[in-house]
Amino acid sequence: MTGLSAFKRFYDEQVVPRAIDKVLGSKPLGKLRQRALAEVEGEVLEIGFGSGTNLPHYPDAITRIIAVEPSPVGRRLARRRLDATSIPVDFVGLVGESIPLDDASVDNAVSTWTLCSVQDVARVVAEVRRVLRPGGRLFFLEHGLSDDPRLADRQHRRNAMQQRLAGGCQLIHRHDELLRDAGFEPVECATFVIAGPKTMSQMYAGTARKPSGSATPAASAAGE
Ligand SMILES: C[S@@+](CC[C@H](N)C(=O)[O-])C[C@H]1O[C@@H](n2cnc3c(N)ncnc32)[C@H](O)[C@@H]1O
Repeated sequence: MTGLSAFKRFYDEQVVPRAIDKVLGSKPLGKLRQRALAEVEGEVLEIGFGSGTNLPHYPDAITRIIAVEPSPVGRRLARRRLDATSIPVDFVGLVGESIPLDDASVDNAVSTWTLCSVQDVARVVAEVRRVLRPGGRLFFLEHGLSDDPRLADRQHRRNAMQQRLAGGCQLIHRHDELLRDAGFEPVECATFVIAGPKTMSQMYAGTARKPSGSATPAASAAGE
């Protein structure tokens, strides 16, 4: 391993999860989390659990959280929030691209500022749809592509650098379109702008429902 790649690995594995814990654990973002999670209930799959920053904001109607998180440092930083909650949390698998759960096995799912960071976002949303029960919803709160064409242009130009500096985070997703393309219906999505770095200031927040009576794409393809 060269010095540069060793540094990059240290940066990605040790520095980024700690920076995320600090920045995304802030009070103003806590208010957005509270709003986004207000109606979540039952057994919930959380993609990109990170350091457990959503835990204090889940409503009482949650019975269990099934957490997917690849970063060992993130999972370690979650310890104090896990100790402070009465919600049972079980970690399964490592990445949203491959979730070791049965089809149609969870009530609802949550993603907060995670779909920007996964390697294959189309595969992750397809996996989330697969494991949701028909009628179950993905509650999402994400940053993404701006509605302002000039800012959107800047986001496209900065995207590669952002990915290198921020653990693979992309600036250019239109989350409502991604979710509709994956077969969620309806997708109810509000966009709004928050204070902070302009290229990360447009939020996409809402819910995406797995249609009732829908088969998984694999089952459909097999003619079931
Ligand atoms: C920007 S952080 C957000 C953390 C947390 N969701 C929050 O709201 O504070 C993105 C998280 O996604 C995780 N992540 C990265 N790639 C992932 C993948 N392929 N599947 C699931 N999670 C992933 C990262 O380790 C990190 O914890």
